[in-house]
Amino acid sequence: MAVTTQQLIQWKQQGRSIVALTAWNYAIAQLLDAAGVDLILVGDSMAVVLGYETTLPITLEEMLFHAKSVRRGVKRALIVVDLPFLTYQESFQQAMHSAGLILKETGAQAVKLEGGYPAMVETIARLVQAGVPVMGHVGLTPQSVHQIGLRQQGKTQEAAERILNEAIALEQAGVFSIVLEHIPADLANLVTQKLSIPTIGIGAGPHCDGQVLVTSDVLGLSEKHPPFAKVYTNLRETITKAVENYAVEVRDRKFPQS
Ligand code: KIV
Repeated sequence: MAVTTQQLIQWKQQGRSIVALTAWNYAIAQLLDAAGVDLILVGDSMAVVLGYETTLPITLEEMLFHAKSVRRGVKRALIVVDLPFLTYQESFQQAMHSAGLILKETGAQAVKLEGGYPAMVETIARLVQAGVPVMGHVGLTPQSVHQIGLRQQGKTQEAAERILNEAIALEQAGVFSIVLEHIPADLANLVTQKLSIPTIGIGAGPHCDGQVLVTSDVLGLSEKHPPFAKVYTNLRETITKAVENYAVEVRDRKFPQS
């Protein structure tokens, strides 16, 4: 059965941990879906596999193109698509236009927006009222890299309180789930206890209702990865060896065999 936003909330109530990963094309999405991943995020972190330094340059057109490809590979998982930098911060109208294109053109079920400051909460509340399922994202928000870097957030009492209050405000605005990125585990635990919607952690310790990682990190495809990522296999090495073997066989006229 296809995963829904309501299902995620039920899983939180049942204490069943939610498995999430990112995907950027049909082939990866098909593998993740078949392996039983519950939520597939077409994250703007795919900027890295497209060769960008940060998530900032990625465009709405690129997100639409990749989300459509992901959609074709998925039968069960819930698909959430990131709204890229400055395609939703300007006004509610801009956010509605961008979210509308994503839901209408890609067949994804939800969008994710970064930030829990008052103007963003207001935008999200209006999107939700209009029928757009929204996932929140607080803590380290990579679209603000030039303001906050990629450091752990919420380390002081004041910063921790701000993140907790943002998460509460986002829940009140109607988000169905919130990503907590790179914050102390105790803070993530507190936020998770306070909310009735599921928290999905990345670099936020073991107490969240689910976990997400960037798939290119998990597969060892990224040139570098954040300290909290776990690399489960080294595809850079595997691919390099396979390609080197192929090149040797072609040059030695061993492939194809006559
Ligand atoms: O873009 C992304 O991959 C994300 C995750 C880090 C949650 O937003």
